[in-house]
Amino acid sequence: FSIVVLISGNGTNLQALIDATKTSTLNATITLVVSNKTSAFGLTRAIKAGIPTLVLTLKEYIDIGKSRVDYDIALAKKIKEQNPDLIVLAGWMHILSKEFINYFPNNIINIHPALPGQFDGAHAIERAFEAFQRGEITETGVMVHKVIPEVDKGEPLLIEHVPILKSDTLEDLETRIHSVEHRLIVQAAIKFLELI
Ligand code: GRF
Repeated sequence: FSIVVLISGNGTNLQALIDATKTSTLNATITLVVSNKTSAFGLTRAIKAGIPTLVLTLKEYIDIGKSRVDYDIALAKKIKEQNPDLIVLAGWMHILSKEFINYFPNNIINIHPALPGQFDGAHAIERAFEAFQRGEITETGVMVHKVIPEVDKGEPLLIEHVPILKSDTLEDLETRIHSVEHRLIVQAAIKFLELI
């Protein structure tokens, strides 16, 4: 099986996928890592693992008067060349338009550090922590879901609940959530590839 991974930052979820393919826990090859940020440390992780990388920034499209959709379609065409079985959004911080998603209607998954419908969008962990401090929630979670045009709304593939402790700082919660993510993203890729 072939996987293309999209990143925007540190790439610890990408690293979990790389490690899983190296140990054959995940029976797949990551054929391309795409970043929308030139500075993403995840690019270094891909290069170290011998995985081809591509940087495509929205800025370079907007600067020449092109649109977000032009960007999304160019991105889709580049990925289509790889003809991947699975596209994983691993810390990808760019909302993908329906034009992009229509290129790959059923094989994009995204990891999101919250429970379905709880803290969709950015800064999910921080927003959960603040809700906990206001006494509104006692736990949060991580989900990997199918990607549809509505942000963070696709059908969940895997969900894991994560407790928040009274003694937690935001960093404690982030650490706990990221360790769950690194396991869940691999499990979700395995599950997805078993289902196709
Ligand atoms: C992760 O929490 C991911 O769920 C969120 O952004 C973070 C990216 O982490 N979308 P990394 O780049 O994979 O380390």
